[in-house]
Amino acid sequence: MGFPLVRMRRMRRCETIRSMVRETHVSVKDLVYPMFVQPGNGIITEVPSMPNVYRYSVDKLLGAVEEVVSLGIPALLLFGIPEVKDERASSAYSKDGVVQRAVRQVKRSFGDDIIVITDVCLCSYTSHGHCGIVSEDGVVQNDATLEVLKMVALSHAEAGADIVAPSDMMDGRVGAIRRALDGAGYQDVPIMAYSAKYASAFYGPFREAAESTPQFGDRTTYQMAPTNVREALREVELDIVEGADIVMVKPALTYLDVLAKVKEAVRMPVAAYSVSGEYSMIKAAARMGWLDEKRTALEVLTAIKRAGADIIITYFAKDVAKWIDEP
Ligand code: PBG
Repeated sequence: MGFPLVRMRRMRRCETIRSMVRETHVSVKDLVYPMFVQPGNGIITEVPSMPNVYRYSVDKLLGAVEEVVSLGIPALLLFGIPEVKDERASSAYSKDGVVQRAVRQVKRSFGDDIIVITDVCLCSYTSHGHCGIVSEDGVVQNDATLEVLKMVALSHAEAGADIVAPSDMMDGRVGAIRRALDGAGYQDVPIMAYSAKYASAFYGPFREAAESTPQFGDRTTYQMAPTNVREALREVELDIVEGADIVMVKPALTYLDVLAKVKEAVRMPVAAYSVSGEYSMIKAAARMGWLDEKRTALEVLTAIKRAGADIIITYFAKDVAKWIDEP
């Protein structure tokens, strides 16, 4: 090369130099671990399509949370599978619902050592599997759903949830939940809004775990079309105006462009949810011996961080904590 001034390789000569010029660091402190809680006692069930991800009864959840805390993971995101489902999702806001009991126990045992975020949605609690109240002709009723979501979020706050995370994608739900929380004295409970949530094929394994597959139709009337990015920015803006404290893009891997644009557009913390399908495809390929699990997962999470995520929700959280082993 006749141009001695320009030479990229000298900065890659050894790991010490490479680490000095590294632009992106994934830390355990960035991660949120999703967990599933189910009825019963003494029960731990592996999710078939998500190796090493389990559904726990409340008593068993505590032991699992202890491990999460000991690994230095700062937060978990809690999903419930109720005993009974009905048209109105009444188990979703019952004082003794599975999530409400789990939150009380986890907060009692671990206090501020773990931040408990609760998923606020109806899909696991409705008999039809939709994220909202459905009319007789099978249409999801936006405003009627808001009334139920308010009760769900309130019941979580009453149980001691640190952050509530509405994932339903109804219009106006962040504002409705904010007003309900403020009115009941929970001004200090932040809302992490699933703002740009796409109608994605990557939720398949989660729906097996949460028993939340819609019994008819799909979620395209309330979740976003994968084709749209300006619409995502509008969804994010609206959620911020309504009072969201953290905004989220979901899924992560197939929407890194959306994540980067959201990060650029707003002055709010941005979360990205690396969803069940992203986990399962790496797990499956690794089991086949086709991909190196650790390298692949860390590369994916690095990409999500690089694209702009301040917070990453991932089923790999515990593995990452072991892999990167920070002091
Ligand atoms: C509930 C909800 C879903 C996920 C999180 N909250 C599924 C859906 O919209 O059907 C998916 C999470 C994952 O795939 O890991 N609405």
